[in-house]
Amino acid sequence: MSSFDPVMAELDPYCNAIVRRLPLTTREQREEGFRAAGYNPFRLPARLVTIDGLSDSGTGALSTEQRAASARADERYASSESWDRFAAALRSMSRFEHIIPTTQGRTAESVVFSTMLKPGQFSVSNTHFDTTSANVQLAGGTAVNLPCPEFADLDSDEPFKGNIDVAALEQLLAGPDGHRVGIVLMTITNNGGGGQPVSIANLRATREVCRRYGVPMFLDAARFAENAWLVTRREAEFAAATPREVAGIEFDLADGFVISLKKDSMSPGGGAIGVRDPQLAGALRAKVIATAGFSTYGGMTGETLEEAARGIEESVDPAYLYARERAAQLLADVAQEAGVDSIRPAGLHAIYLNAGRLMRHIPQARFPGHSLAAALYLEGGVRTSELGSLYLGELDDEFRMVKPAPFELVRVALPRRVYTENHLRYIGTVLARIAKEPERWPGYRVVSAPPTLRHFEGWYDQVRD
Ligand code: F0G
Repeated sequence: MSSFDPVMAELDPYCNAIVRRLPLTTREQREEGFRAAGYNPFRLPARLVTIDGLSDSGTGALSTEQRAASARADERYASSESWDRFAAALRSMSRFEHIIPTTQGRTAESVVFSTMLKPGQFSVSNTHFDTTSANVQLAGGTAVNLPCPEFADLDSDEPFKGNIDVAALEQLLAGPDGHRVGIVLMTITNNGGGGQPVSIANLRATREVCRRYGVPMFLDAARFAENAWLVTRREAEFAAATPREVAGIEFDLADGFVISLKKDSMSPGGGAIGVRDPQLAGALRAKVIATAGFSTYGGMTGETLEEAARGIEESVDPAYLYARERAAQLLADVAQEAGVDSIRPAGLHAIYLNAGRLMRHIPQARFPGHSLAAALYLEGGVRTSELGSLYLGELDDEFRMVKPAPFELVRVALPRRVYTENHLRYIGTVLARIAKEPERWPGYRVVSAPPTLRHFEGWYDQVRD
């Protein structure tokens, strides 16, 4: 940043090249549409969504350079030129020799866990993403989350609340179940943990413990560049380093990685696995060939290989990352001004609103997080998702609350390079209207839902009891 003119450094370093018309809707249209969708934001037709904060995955705006790159996509079946460019980009960023493409992040997880975990073994993480823990379970394993104790205080300004609890990890490894730990997976940044970063100090300490106990340490590197940026901003040792240099250090510390290319790599699709061990690479390649596609495309098209190759480079641009930091901070600030707290300090890919605090009138059994997410949509056409008891709580067969989630949060995700300051301020305006009279908003009950992935597939209804 220091090389830029300080005033110019505050500019968003891109402008619109192609635009999409935002649907402007009436309250009646939203009421009707949301009711018909069973009050589930995942079922809500996107044509009725004005600002979409549901996910930062595959939702980034492509750059003109990515569009240009995709024009030379080579769709030949094996060892295409697009593959060469993709592999070169990911190899250069990660310094891993063995790169295996997959359809998206969860395919990479499925292939890695089904190959590396024996039934009954543990995958231990700072926090597994939901598809990640599902893939551990499908492989017959158990997903163990060991977030650092600092995460428990949503309001504190601790810089690295995404860390793993290294002492707890060591205790587990030294204890009677130690031999069951098959892999340690560090999610950077920690999406399930408030989008908070992991420090290099924590990665180093984890690596050291893993080495002592002979357990491989992998990264879930979906947001490797945002983690690297926050390391340059918050970890003194790296204040003068570039995000690219820090990304190199993150990858250097790992024995392998899985990555969704739909986040920091700004591709509409794709994922990958990286490993150092040639024998393991061979086993993983065989599984990818059998389930996703030949090992030089893994289910990705030539276009997504090209777009990801270019996106990987753009992801570590300090001017872009700084703009992203400003956007997340602005959103956290306008929420705060509206009277809605969010997890501090703000990460980059989303802010996580403290719905439990705002919707005090709604008991956890009536899902205060979902109530706020629903209010954001009904009041202003803003789509978000709940990360609280609807998603993480334990319910009985009749959907009564057995055990609520520790926090009632709403994630407002920030698609990359998509929304302007005006859009973010609009979210603040909608939040202010909700926060003026939160009691207006009802709770919800689950009408029906499958036993797994309730969050995505459930039907809900409003309750005012
Ligand atoms: N790991 C992390 C940390 C993720 O956030 C995601 C997806 C995945 C793995 C799976 O990757 O979608 O390419 O299969 N997160 C999205 C989200 C869906 O909205 O947070 P994928």
